[in-house]
Amino acid sequence: MSGKSSALVLERFGALPRLLERPVPEAQPGQTLVRMLAAQVGHLDLNVVDGKFGILPDLPAVPGTNGAGLVLASDTHPAGSLVRINGKGLGLRRDGCWRSHALVPDATAVPVPEGTDPALACGFFTPAGTAWAAVHSVADVRPGERVLVTGAAGAVGSLTVQVAARAGAEVIGVVGRPAKLDRVPAAAKAVLAGDLTAEAVGGPVDAVVDTVGGPVLRAALGLVRPRGRVALVGYTAGRELTVDLADFLLADVSLLPVNLMTRGREVAVDVDRMLGELAAGELELPVERHRPERLAEAVERLRTGEAVGKVVLDFS
Ligand SMILES: NC(=O)c1ccc[n+]([C@@H]2O[C@H](COP(=O)([O-])OP(=O)(O)OC[C@H]3O[C@@H](n4cnc5c(N)ncnc54)[C@H](OP(=O)(O)O)[C@@H]3O)[C@@H](O)[C@H]2O)c1
Repeated sequence: MSGKSSALVLERFGALPRLLERPVPEAQPGQTLVRMLAAQVGHLDLNVVDGKFGILPDLPAVPGTNGAGLVLASDTHPAGSLVRINGKGLGLRRDGCWRSHALVPDATAVPVPEGTDPALACGFFTPAGTAWAAVHSVADVRPGERVLVTGAAGAVGSLTVQVAARAGAEVIGVVGRPAKLDRVPAAAKAVLAGDLTAEAVGGPVDAVVDTVGGPVLRAALGLVRPRGRVALVGYTAGRELTVDLADFLLADVSLLPVNLMTRGREVAVDVDRMLGELAAGELELPVERHRPERLAEAVERLRTGEAVGKVVLDFS
């Protein structure tokens, strides 16, 4: 296949990728050539752009850990079918999805139902998988439990609220700014992070799913009953937590990591079902779209927490 394609190319960690023209990659055995329609801009992608993640590519590189597009050529996937793409180091140790045409390992492409919005197809897997893993695999939420979710208007947080409520929990959703109080899914009682007291949340909680980290995690830890669980997902508000070990032992609260990279396979079936529910409007995940030329704006909205839901680059 000949012709031109465009790619956001990262040339230096800490600077934004530049949109460059490139030849369309040649089809190869074991690889699927995809015409990208949408690609996610997530915090992980920004950590890669900043050079602040444990797995980084050699530069120049194309970031983008998640995308969705139409198959142009493949031995495995029918031409014209819609696929979502992630895994196998895409956007980490090999070129990712921030480009109009991508040659990716066959196994990174997963068919999605025809007619699915590509922005949803590229953006749902990470927040849905993380929410499911946090609620069911890590925090092991039981019916009747009280669960506090931070960043509850964010992509992972809003789905976590919905998954926890479906598991039969009473959910409290925490947001950092008043404007987001009404963006918390209706299944939760919404509370401001600045008001995070036992009184405001109606007494101790059984579990926390924290997508924010930093001072919000510290405040949330103090609200968990002894033998309760905190599932830690993210650290947008701060990467560090200082723990007084005597207090930690006395509180008897488990702090547990959620890592979608190690749990992607075990949540795959549930997450694919969630795609159908999202497409049918039974679950909600807001998406905001930006053209690749407007990457800087998309990144700014994600970095400042202004964005609500998933931020997606529209390559269509
Ligand atoms: N562990 C895993 O496997 C895994 C998987 C997916 C995502 N993550 C991580 O989970 C976190 C949330 O991801 P997401 O996709 O839900 O992100 P998101 O949609 O941007 O939500 C993050 C929320 O963090 C809050 N926040 C607090 N301080 C912030 C700051 N200084 N800058 C930006 N946001 C701030 C914002 O809510 P308020 O305005 O309400 O405070 C925002 O809604 C990220 O750190 C991401 O890397 C981890």
